[in-house]
Amino acid sequence: MRTRPLKVALLGCGVVGSEVARIMTTHSDDLAARIGAPVELAGVAVRRPDKVRAGIDPSLVTTDATALVKRGDIDVVVEVIGGIEPARTLITTAFEHGASVVSANKALLAQDGAALHAVAEENGRDLYYEAAVAGAIPLIRPLRESLAGDKVNRVLGIVNGTTNFILDKMDSTGAGYQEALDEATALGYAEADPTADVEGFDAAAKAAILAGIAFHTRVRLDDVYREGMTEVTAADFASAKEMGCTIKLLAICERAQDGGSVTARVHPAMIPLSHPLASVRGAYNAVFVESDAAGQLMFYGPGAGGSPTASAVLGDLVAVCRNRLNGAIGPGESAYAALPVSPMGDVVTRYHISLDVADKPGVLAQVATVFAEHGVSIDTVRQQGKDGEASLVVVTHRATDAALSGTVEALRKLDTVRGVASIMRVEGE
Ligand SMILES: NC(=O)c1ccc[n+]([C@@H]2O[C@H](COP(=O)([O-])OP(=O)(O)OC[C@H]3O[C@@H](n4cnc5c(N)ncnc54)[C@H](OP(=O)(O)O)[C@@H]3O)[C@@H](O)[C@H]2O)c1
Repeated sequence: MRTRPLKVALLGCGVVGSEVARIMTTHSDDLAARIGAPVELAGVAVRRPDKVRAGIDPSLVTTDATALVKRGDIDVVVEVIGGIEPARTLITTAFEHGASVVSANKALLAQDGAALHAVAEENGRDLYYEAAVAGAIPLIRPLRESLAGDKVNRVLGIVNGTTNFILDKMDSTGAGYQEALDEATALGYAEADPTADVEGFDAAAKAAILAGIAFHTRVRLDDVYREGMTEVTAADFASAKEMGCTIKLLAICERAQDGGSVTARVHPAMIPLSHPLASVRGAYNAVFVESDAAGQLMFYGPGAGGSPTASAVLGDLVAVCRNRLNGAIGPGESAYAALPVSPMGDVVTRYHISLDVADKPGVLAQVATVFAEHGVSIDTVRQQGKDGEASLVVVTHRATDAALSGTVEALRKLDTVRGVASIMRVEGE
């Protein structure tokens, strides 16, 4: 084993960074044996230098992250600051000064992954980011390496623990959205400002990263259709139950049936209780991958938290250190397929539509005609009447999102339709 240590600069020492430092220290012998050389924490960049940080040598702590990545003797920079800047500039500077980079930064990778990969490649360095999607769950490496000889057709996942916790609460207790969110906040599963989670931004960043890797195509954050889950109601769960379904916020990356394009989207959807993703409870994450040769694979585990996320960071650190010792680099960006990303209107799926209608003869026929005129075929209809008003629940066969949107627009114009109470896609069948 080489005795000269590989030097690691840690950028950020918060929830994830402090766990990375702890594991590096407590497992140092095992890490050295697995890598073939010791790894040494050479510096820790933070914002507040005076904060007490258990297990961290205060002499390593600095607020000058730029000087740390420019030192020239750093082998690997671990970026766990988060956000776009200064993380982007620090990572770029690290490559330019000879370091490889491990990051957990989904926002940055989804926005600027291609540019960062390009700088890594120009400098002959690694950029690894297993922790950026679904925390501890091995997903990037299986897609990038284990499935490199297969053809992935679909990635369907619960990639945000906060939203899964809220939806699971609503499902199991009948609670409304706000009540379930309040409980998630009280238990520390939701941030004081939960927008990034509940509006689907976090999941959309992960969908962009997963689609890019799965389909060997550049998928930008702007390419991902996004709908949050704040409008999901207890009534939607009741309807889902009647259909033998539950509701999850899903990230869905699909190759079109003709193979000529891809789509990526995030929205709440009904899935059958028989689907493996339906049984993912609490704040857990799971990703279901469908490929030509392997068939169906499911990856499941804790999608966040300091220690689980640090596990993924450490896995990358070991891989990158091994590459350094071998004078090699691992797989970089693979975007050779360059498939077009289709708009949401082209997505084909089933829909569950709940309408408030007048309870009088002929309404059902009127509604059915509108569906037929837009080429959306109805699978089932359920009607409940009360005091001259009725609710009509229509479940369709597969149709494009554009056809469904046209149908809903026309339904809203009918005098007998008082309102469209909810529209939910039905997935996983
Ligand atoms: N938390 C999770 O469960 C989780 C899961 C998956 C991925 N991630 C990703 O991991 C990354 C870090 O998340 P986190 O939860 O650990 O965040 P965090 O707890 O807020 O920690 C951020 C760290 O960055 C430091 N920092 C902030 N601005 C800085 C600057 N300009 N220069 C130097 N240091 C700076 C902070 O310093 P101070 O300590 O002085 O404030 C803190 O140590 C993010 O990209 C996040 O998306 C997190």
